[in-house]
Amino acid sequence: MPAKPILNVALVGYAFMGRAHSNAYQQVGRFFADCPFEVRKKVMVARTAGKLAAAAKTWGWDEHSTDFDAVIARDDIDVVDITTPPNGHYALAKKALLAGKHVLCEKPLAMSVAEAKELAELARKKKRTCGVWHAYRFCPAASTAARICREGRLGTIQHVRGLYLQDWLNDPTVGAGWRTQKRICGSGSHGDLNAHLIDMTRFITGLEFESVNGLARTFVTERPTGDGAGKAKVDVDDAFLFLAQLQGGAVGSFEATRFAPGHKNTNYIEVNGSKGSLRWDFYRMNELQFFSFDDPPHLQGWHGILCSDSAAHPYVGSWWPGGHHIGYEHCFTNMLYDWLHALAAGKPFRPDFADGVAVQEVVEAALDSAKSKQWVKLKRSQKFSGPAPVRTPATAERNAGL
Ligand SMILES: NC(=O)c1ccc[n+]([C@@H]2O[C@H](COP(=O)([O-])OP(=O)(O)OC[C@H]3O[C@@H](n4cnc5c(N)ncnc54)[C@H](O)[C@@H]3O)[C@@H](O)[C@H]2O)c1
Repeated sequence: MPAKPILNVALVGYAFMGRAHSNAYQQVGRFFADCPFEVRKKVMVARTAGKLAAAAKTWGWDEHSTDFDAVIARDDIDVVDITTPPNGHYALAKKALLAGKHVLCEKPLAMSVAEAKELAELARKKKRTCGVWHAYRFCPAASTAARICREGRLGTIQHVRGLYLQDWLNDPTVGAGWRTQKRICGSGSHGDLNAHLIDMTRFITGLEFESVNGLARTFVTERPTGDGAGKAKVDVDDAFLFLAQLQGGAVGSFEATRFAPGHKNTNYIEVNGSKGSLRWDFYRMNELQFFSFDDPPHLQGWHGILCSDSAAHPYVGSWWPGGHHIGYEHCFTNMLYDWLHALAAGKPFRPDFADGVAVQEVVEAALDSAKSKQWVKLKRSQKFSGPAPVRTPATAERNAGL
């Protein structure tokens, strides 16, 4: 068998997402036999040398560096992957694109619609294959949910209901961090958590947002600083709720908070159509709940579809035998696998930077609405790439070059 082409990756950041992505680079070629590249974990980049060196060693990166510009200038780097907090995304992605690199970036793509659009336009001009790590799309159940919607099994979509609930800031003694400072993260629970719900809504239903009405609340307005010497102002939302009107007359309600005791990472979405409903809860990520009025009346009821069977669901066949569940980290590897195929085939990948713009437009419009206390209509000047294709086992090969 001929050797696979080598793809050298530079990863920026080593913490939560740095570990999730490192794991994906580590596993993709091992589990997906038809991975089109030999992916090399070439350089890990961050600001703090000591912690960086330890993380690079743990995760098997060949080298580590605190000099992003020097890494970008290297001819032997093909891909730059960005896992810094949001205020780092735009400048790093722009430099990488200008240097001709393919770019993967964590969500939200940028701090503003203007920045996100500039990146999407640059990616298009430079003909680079780019992606935003909305990894929840790559849970097999999310693909199945999108397939059910696209097959028309829900009929006309009327409601979307999204919840993303955490509780880690409920305790007022928890210290300030980048997620509580607007200049670093742009917004609080909204950009962090609602961004996922917005992307999942677009992916599962194929519908765009038309207008939004938001409500933001900050429950704890200052928190201890890292050195414990003082207090830092919290200038982002602790909780953010918004209503939405979607294409085709559907309505949506979305809620993100870091103040829901008992909810560590509740990520829930429900879609109701004229013929049926589906609901998905990340705590039971391998299961999709489905109800259909098309079933005979005596059989009507919610039933669970186990999405860890390779005969009917994408990705899982590359992991374990049917029914042997996959977890959070697998979604990142699944996404990477699709992205590598798109790159090899020179085909578009989704979620791309245009999807990043679309999410950012909804995030920003809801923030504007919370401020003005008015409904805000989406401007949507960006040309979207249309509803994302849905991967199924039957179309896996065809979609390999998504
Ligand atoms: N896709 C998902 O499911 C998901 C989940 C969590 C976080 N995220 C996103 O990932 C990004 C990072 O979040 P996290 O939870 O990994 O944060 P984190 O605090 O755990 O890690 C941030 C990393 O960025 C590094 N860093 C910070 N500023 C930097 C700079 N200027 N230059 C270089 N490195 C810098 C830090 O050293 C650290 O390695 C955010 O955009 C967040 O929204 C996505």
